[in-house]
Amino acid sequence: SADESLQRERIKTLLKAHNATLVAHYYTEDSLQALAEETGGCVADSLEMARFGAASPSSTLVVAGVRFMGETAKMLSPDKRVLMPTLEATCSLDIGCPAPEFSAFCDAHPDRTVVVYANTSAEVKARADWVVTSAIAEDVVAHLHARGERIIWAPDKHLGRFVQSRTGADMLMWEGACIVHEEFKARGIEDMLRVYPQAAVLVHPESPQAVVDLADVAGSTSQLINAARKMTQDTLIVATDRGIFYKMQQAVPDKLLIEAPTGGNGATCRSCAHCPWMAMNSLDKLELCLEEGLGAIEVDDAIRRRALVGLERMLTFRN
Ligand code: 13P
Ligand code: SF4
Repeated sequence: SADESLQRERIKTLLKAHNATLVAHYYTEDSLQALAEETGGCVADSLEMARFGAASPSSTLVVAGVRFMGETAKMLSPDKRVLMPTLEATCSLDIGCPAPEFSAFCDAHPDRTVVVYANTSAEVKARADWVVTSAIAEDVVAHLHARGERIIWAPDKHLGRFVQSRTGADMLMWEGACIVHEEFKARGIEDMLRVYPQAAVLVHPESPQAVVDLADVAGSTSQLINAARKMTQDTLIVATDRGIFYKMQQAVPDKLLIEAPTGGNGATCRSCAHCPWMAMNSLDKLELCLEEGLGAIEVDDAIRRRALVGLERMLTFRN
């Protein structure tokens, strides 16, 4: 609309005026992803967001995504101002892994290497030997397993089980889950495959085992987009947050992309495949945060220094 295009121009002016760069996750709304692209920012998975933010010469990063992404950006660039359109956007994995309980869990198993998924608070990362995202979890765990290390894995049990099955590592799991991916149903995908027998199935490994078992490709958001480009099939059934369709459809304009069913009936579960916290990001909140300097992320310095150990291992890890 005309109003929206005026708003976009105002936001572009604000970004320039504040020497700010917009970094958006694939699950945020299309308008935010488009704006990040147009203004020299980036649209990415959580690993690339962290890398891009750390390398950015801007003095302000605006992170459109969920809180752990802003915290990671701030910990990697403590001298930058890191703003988020909303500080309310959390993640069920973060909520399900409180730092005191997690710390006690680690204390009970002192002989194990602690590998923590990026979808956690700064405090939980401060307990980690390694931080990983879904894009490199398997490679890092394979590397640790080859060195004979036994592992504590937290918090996503589905991703943990996926990594465990690929690597054979000894992993003690925390029992967390993503409320979005946990809803995908194998039965529904099987039904859909009867309608589209030629389709390929792409799955984010935060999904349940039975869903991953149906996948032609399982991987992080960026890995799924890259896989979509390489697939010979013209129809792709995609089990991850529907926000990914914006970039995936750009990558494969001639393919038919279909949302994997979540098992709820269409009337009551229309937003199952969309993260409610990612959805809290909007152009309105982005404009307000730039105008008023709202939504600044701060991380305690002692926590930051401990969390950096695992974060830097993640960023410098090469297979
Ligand atoms: P990616 O690292 O694959 O982008 O995943 C982040 C996330 O929150 C998945 O739900
Ligand atoms: Fe967390 Fe799931 Fe939302 Fe990703 S999609 S931010 S894992 S709740």
